[in-house]
Amino acid sequence: MSDLFLRACFGQEVERTPVWLMRQAGRYMAEYRAVREQYDFLTICRTPELAAEVTLQPVERLGVDAAILFSDIMIPLPAMGCEVAFDPGPTLALPVRDRAGIAALRVPDPRADLGFVLDAVGQLRRELADRVPLIGFGGAPFTLAAYLVEGRGSKSFPAVRSMIYSDPAAGRELLARLVEAQRAFLGAQIEAGAQAIQIFDSWGGILPRPLFEEWAVEPAARLVEGVGRPGVPVIYYVRDCAHAMDLVAGTGADVISVDEKLPLGRVAELIGPGPALQGNLDPVALLGGREVITTGAEQVLEGVPAGRGHVFNLGHGVLPQTPVEDAAFLVDEVRRLSTAARGAR
Ligand code: CP3
Repeated sequence: MSDLFLRACFGQEVERTPVWLMRQAGRYMAEYRAVREQYDFLTICRTPELAAEVTLQPVERLGVDAAILFSDIMIPLPAMGCEVAFDPGPTLALPVRDRAGIAALRVPDPRADLGFVLDAVGQLRRELADRVPLIGFGGAPFTLAAYLVEGRGSKSFPAVRSMIYSDPAAGRELLARLVEAQRAFLGAQIEAGAQAIQIFDSWGGILPRPLFEEWAVEPAARLVEGVGRPGVPVIYYVRDCAHAMDLVAGTGADVISVDEKLPLGRVAELIGPGPALQGNLDPVALLGGREVITTGAEQVLEGVPAGRGHVFNLGHGVLPQTPVEDAAFLVDEVRRLSTAARGAR
């Protein structure tokens, strides 16, 4: 089987750099839009056949080195007792604002409450037949808390940040429940067949450095510890984290996935030896045409210190206006450039 991606996650020798793209299944693909014309987003997430079909689209069209289950970080929240609507961003009818709301949160039983996710994972493993590994994923405790308390997307999530100051004990209880829920959910994804896990802490970077360590890294570390299985890498994704990059290795994740703000050479210096790196081409570069894409891919690849594990990715998700043939071109370019670089060594 093609285990290039898994070997790179563990910092092992690889013949070229593996590549996949966050949000590689989505609106920029005509195949995905065709499915969306018939079914809404939540129906696709909750129907294993549809989730599997959409997950495979970029594997076929782009030739990426890993598949990522089509789902959303908000999918387990209804099973915790919080209904979520997507319009298109997530909105909660009843945000969790106080101790009573936190106490009412259930820790889901993954098989009973989220079986559709586990069935999609199982079906995908059969359909992929070891062509490429399958990544399962979920939200990091802090990022889920940010949405739960705010009740919707935000640029700065003031509600959860004020809870941290005004009632830290309540905040700790909320994070403890999320760690427990995500341990069970991500562990169940692995048992169903997920070969790697990505934990999305898309919003941890809004916290000042000391708070980031206590409220993002520390709960994520407890989650990583509970999810870790031999041979199954855990990837921790952060955004806008230049002020606290030296702290992210404290999660114990095998791979740190970073946005496009800092070159990977600088990220490696800040993190120090240890985890492999994933990233970090600016998703907007995919709108700049082929020369921009080639130059961008070269810069990312050349910035990785020799011998460091690296999985090529974007710094954030593929934008909906991305030309699909240019996304495919990027994947081909990463393959060509990283193969040539190894040959030259
Ligand atoms: O392309 C599409 O059709 C998008 C489908 C869609 C997703 N999430 C896919 C997804 C929709 C409508 C959502 C709802 C949603 N959830 C939004 C609005 C997104 C939008 O673009 O309209 C948001 C902000 C969320 C919350 C969320 N979901 C976060 C913070 C993350 C982590 C990654 C990030 O963007 O910071 C997700 C993960 C996510 N959403 C995935 C997918 C397929 C999984 C990751 C992946 O495929 O790489």
